[in-house]
Amino acid sequence: MAAITRSTAFLALAAAVLAVLAGGTTAQQLSPTFYSTTCPKLSTIVRSAMAVAVRKEKRMGASILRMFFHDCFVNLASSYVCSVLTFIYHVLPPGRQGCDGSILLDDTPSFTGEKGAGPNFMSVRGYEVIDTIKTQVEASCNATVSCADILALAARDGVNLLGGPTWSVPLGRKDSRTASQGDANTNLPGPGSSLATLITMFGNKNLTARDMTALSGAHTIGRAQCQFFRSRVYTERNINATFAKQRRRGCPKSGNDTLVSPFDVQTADVFDNAYYQNLVAQEGLLHSDQELFNGGSQDALVKMYSNNGAQFFADFVAAMVKMGNLMPSSGTPTEVRLNCRKVN
Ligand code: HEM
Ligand SMILES: *[C@@H]1O[C@H](CO)[C@@H](O)[C@H](O)[C@H]1NC(C)=O
Ligand SMILES: *[C@@H]1O[C@H](CO)[C@@H](O)[C@H](O)[C@H]1NC(C)=O
Ligand SMILES: *[C@@H]1O[C@H](CO)[C@@H](O)[C@H](O)[C@H]1NC(C)=O
Ligand SMILES: *[C@@H]1O[C@H](CO)[C@@H](O)[C@H](O)[C@H]1NC(C)=O
Repeated sequence: MAAITRSTAFLALAAAVLAVLAGGTTAQQLSPTFYSTTCPKLSTIVRSAMAVAVRKEKRMGASILRMFFHDCFVNLASSYVCSVLTFIYHVLPPGRQGCDGSILLDDTPSFTGEKGAGPNFMSVRGYEVIDTIKTQVEASCNATVSCADILALAARDGVNLLGGPTWSVPLGRKDSRTASQGDANTNLPGPGSSLATLITMFGNKNLTARDMTALSGAHTIGRAQCQFFRSRVYTERNINATFAKQRRRGCPKSGNDTLVSPFDVQTADVFDNAYYQNLVAQEGLLHSDQELFNGGSQDALVKMYSNNGAQFFADFVAAMVKMGNLMPSSGTPTEVRLNCRKVN
């Protein structure tokens, strides 16, 4: 009896999974005009909601940009919630995730998402801004635009509202029905990473060292917590002494781990090339930042970006589009979520 129930349950589940696969496979090619007939006001809605959010708090432009990075970079789905799916996991190739809104899913009693992963917990912020935008988008075009695409547009607008470049965002992503806390923990680089580790971790996503160095220029905006730069400002030698002393004032030797400091003190909320000028002056805030200018392969590029803001913008845009192309492998069950925090 128990065996029959189990196999019946398995068949039902397998049928459900196959139905999802048939109905919701991943779009292969993104296009900036994906919603031009189905949701013509989309870009205007996202832009004005981001303008409101950034007017309220400039840092939010940075926070949403980082959220997009952390969404896209988690793309080796290796854990499945339901153990019965292990069978399917062995039949189908392992799914890739990517820019699929997986970071937006809330935990439930039976589901562990990415919000609690080390690189995200008490660190990634702005989820409520995405909720607000999603509500406005749903009011204008119901059940049409994925949360993943909203995040991609919002990240672009955050950059531009703070003085950075703008670009047209390829669209047509679908939202995941899964998330992977384990992969969020292993796929995202940490602040203590070496140059070799950074190049490898971006290489794992088919991003070049040049893409990595250009994308790191995102640290021209936003804030970091004391716990992530403490050892750099107290113990490292490749740091400007005046800068280190000033940063130690905002980060005691012990305690106040969550106190934040801007990456770029002079123009904290302006998306410019000052990040690279800081690196050349040995004023990178994180260990991983200064790794880009510490006698290694990226020195020349950092120096070039420090003198050529236009080239930085061009390379940053190209790398953002490339990173934004990380997608779930075809066959991964996806959907357009109605609420970004939960699967339909
Ligand atoms: C290269 C490897 C990277 C490492 C090791 C790294 C690490 C970090 C860390 C530790 C923080 C501070 C978080 C906190 O204190 O809560 C941070 C903040 C930030 N990161 Fe990165 N990051 C990297 C690359 C990127 C990329 C590629 C982007 C986007 C394209 C990005 C965008 C940001 C932004 C905008 C902030 C500030 C967020 C805010 O103020 O809310 N980072 N990063
Ligand atoms: C949006 O569409 C979904 C699915 O078609 C439907 O269930 C829901 O009632 C709609 N919501 C609104 C506010 O129109
Ligand atoms: C990187 O590119 C290779 C070859 O085109 C492809 O097989 C692989 O899936 C890509 N990896 C990612 C994370 O997109
Ligand atoms: C460190 O920065 C200060 C302040 O910007 C500057 O005056 C000083 O020359 C720098 N020190 C070195 C060794 O570059
Ligand atoms: C932490 O920072 C706050 C606000 O800056 C300050 O009032 C407090 O004394 C600090 N605590 C410690 C342990 O340094």
